[in-house]
Amino acid sequence: MEATAQIGVTGLAVMGRNLARNFARHGYTVAVHNRTPSRTRALVEKFGHEGTFVPAESLEDFVAALERPRRLLIMVKAGQPTDEVIEEFAPLLEPGDMIIDGGNAHFADTRRRERALRERGIHFVGTGVSGGEEGALHGPSIMPGGSEESYAVLGPMLEKISAHVDGDPCCTHIGTDGAGHFVKMVHNGIEYADMQLIAEAYQLLREVAGYTPAEIAEIFRRWNKGRLNSYLIEITAEVLAHTDPETGQPFVDIVQDAAEQKGTGRWTVQTALDLGSPVTAIAQATFARVASSRAELRAAYRPLAGGTEQELRHHEAERFTDQVEQALYASKIIAYDQGWTMIRDGAAEYGWDIDLGAVARIWRGGCIIRAAFLDRIRAAHAANPGLVSLLAEEGFAAEIGDAQVPWREVVAIAAHRGIPAPAFTAALAFYDTLRSERLPAALIQGLRDFFGAHTYHRTDREGVYHTRWAEPGRPEIRTDTGTS
Ligand code: 6PG
Repeated sequence: MEATAQIGVTGLAVMGRNLARNFARHGYTVAVHNRTPSRTRALVEKFGHEGTFVPAESLEDFVAALERPRRLLIMVKAGQPTDEVIEEFAPLLEPGDMIIDGGNAHFADTRRRERALRERGIHFVGTGVSGGEEGALHGPSIMPGGSEESYAVLGPMLEKISAHVDGDPCCTHIGTDGAGHFVKMVHNGIEYADMQLIAEAYQLLREVAGYTPAEIAEIFRRWNKGRLNSYLIEITAEVLAHTDPETGQPFVDIVQDAAEQKGTGRWTVQTALDLGSPVTAIAQATFARVASSRAELRAAYRPLAGGTEQELRHHEAERFTDQVEQALYASKIIAYDQGWTMIRDGAAEYGWDIDLGAVARIWRGGCIIRAAFLDRIRAAHAANPGLVSLLAEEGFAAEIGDAQVPWREVVAIAAHRGIPAPAFTAALAFYDTLRSERLPAALIQGLRDFFGAHTYHRTDREGVYHTRWAEPGRPEIRTDTGTS
């Protein structure tokens, strides 16, 4: 077989197939392979006219069809199946070749695979791809990790097939080894938070303001024209406006209220705990999904007392809607800020040089959390490359300042009515935690010292201290010097 293909895609389920078609539509010759060859044949039969595909049924033919250095994109299930495919192909490759993993792999697996393949001279490029099926075909947001050297060869192709915003590709080299998959994982964590915040806004509008799903769809449509403009807000309007053809009910009323997950949000929270990144809104969003699925617990709590009920008058409903918009926007700033903090923490821990502004730039298009707002984050980082928090930027600080009173009212109303708003509440508590002059953490330190002699630092002088709580007069000793 002649080596004519610039890229090969193995694993032709919908994401793999659509990425292969996207490459072909951009003029690349694409070798295609699947464990069951019928899928390969089906792709070429159905979409062969879109570009140049080289179908291969054996691993050897597939590898032989690739120009050197070979670029081999694997689009298989994360976990064991990815390791198996790597092990099948690696012996057929040569130093300088590249294996690109475009699945939602855990970044720690990507780091392990990268290390092992590097020893064999093969570049392993863990690549985050966001945008679902449509994105894969028409332009996703792409987050490649791996070596600089691999990006020099591969990057231009990925940039070409990615979404573009203002002429800029939604693809950049994120950092070495697992950086791309790490950033994709945090993207998904933010996605969970964004969706939970939207869902809470919907429920408040429905239960407090008394709007129907169709009316709330209109509200989201309106919001989508303003600062909340984003893909998730846009599709929320679509889902809320949809009526179940069979029953004539709003679609949202015939779906079971138990949210599922494939696990990337869970990974974000697990990793955040290890890094010490306080991603509280993301964590609440993840736990909200889990809690919604615990039928037996919900049945046990269901008879318990709830909040007060009060009808809102028409003009109050309108005012409340504006307050919810403010609460949603403020909470969204917090959730994104938490995500960016986590990316900074991950970069410091794993030695990645991640351009935080570039992450915002490549999320402006193609991905699930694409939003007008991301251009503001990009600009904030461009203006101040050392930006520690979005709230250290004047524009965001002013906006959250304007929103904070209505934001508090919405959270208070939710609490009064007994309507769960865990992500709104967590975001507000985070805001108040970080802006507090003094936190009750001092008392926690005191308690730790009391029961476990865990020591504390004083506000007024250097050193590490312990109080001998059981002794008369409770004398304090300085433990780092052994003096009292
Ligand atoms: C994307 C999405 C995608 C993810 C799904 C499902 O960026 O295109 O994040 O990668 O797999 O959204 O996620 P959950 O099943 O965990 O909700």
